Amino acid sequence: MSAMLEIEFRLNGVVQRTAVAADMSALEMLRDVLGLTGTKYGCGEGECGACTITVDGRTVNSCLMFAVDCNGREVQTIEGLSATPLGERLNHSLVAHGAVQCGFCTPGFMMQAQQVLAEHPHASREEIQRGLEGNLCRCTGYRKIIDAVEAVAHPTASAE
Ligand code: FES
Ligand code: FES
Repeated sequence: MSAMLEIEFRLNGVVQRTAVAADMSALEMLRDVLGLTGTKYGCGEGECGACTITVDGRTVNSCLMFAVDCNGREVQTIEGLSATPLGERLNHSLVAHGAVQCGFCTPGFMMQAQQVLAEHPHASREEIQRGLEGNLCRCTGYRKIIDAVEAVAHPTASAE
C-alpha cells in the first residue's frame, strides 16, 4: 500500500487539508476522498476532458495529475465554478441551447469554457471551437455547446 501524505491547498476558495496516497490522482481525491463528484471520470487517459479542473487558474486533466501535486495550489472544480456568476451564465446558456444531453461532459466543457472566456472574453466562434477541442461529447452535441458558449461571449448579439 502506498504511503499517505498530508497535503493542504485551496479548493473552491476554502482551505482544505487531507491525506492522500502518493499514487492517487487528483480526480480520485476529489471524487472519492472529498466527495466532489461533479468532476467526471471519462477515459482516465487525458483524452476526453470530462475531468477538467483548474489549478492556479489553468485547466488541467485531473486524471493525469497526482493529488499530492495539488499541495499549496489553488484548485477549482465545477462545484466552485457553478457558484460564480460566469458559472451560472454558462449553465443557463447550456440548458437554454439544449446542449446538455446526457450531461456527462458538461462539467468539463464548463471548466474549459471558463478558460476560453478568461483568455478571450468576447471569443469568436473559431476561438471557442479551438478552445474546446480537447473536450469530447459522446452525444456529439458540439454545435449546441459552442452556440451556448458563444451566447455567453456575446450576450447582446444573442439577445437580439
Ligand atoms: S478522464 Fe481525464 S481526460 Fe478523460
Ligand atoms: S452531453 Fe452526453 S457526453 Fe456530452
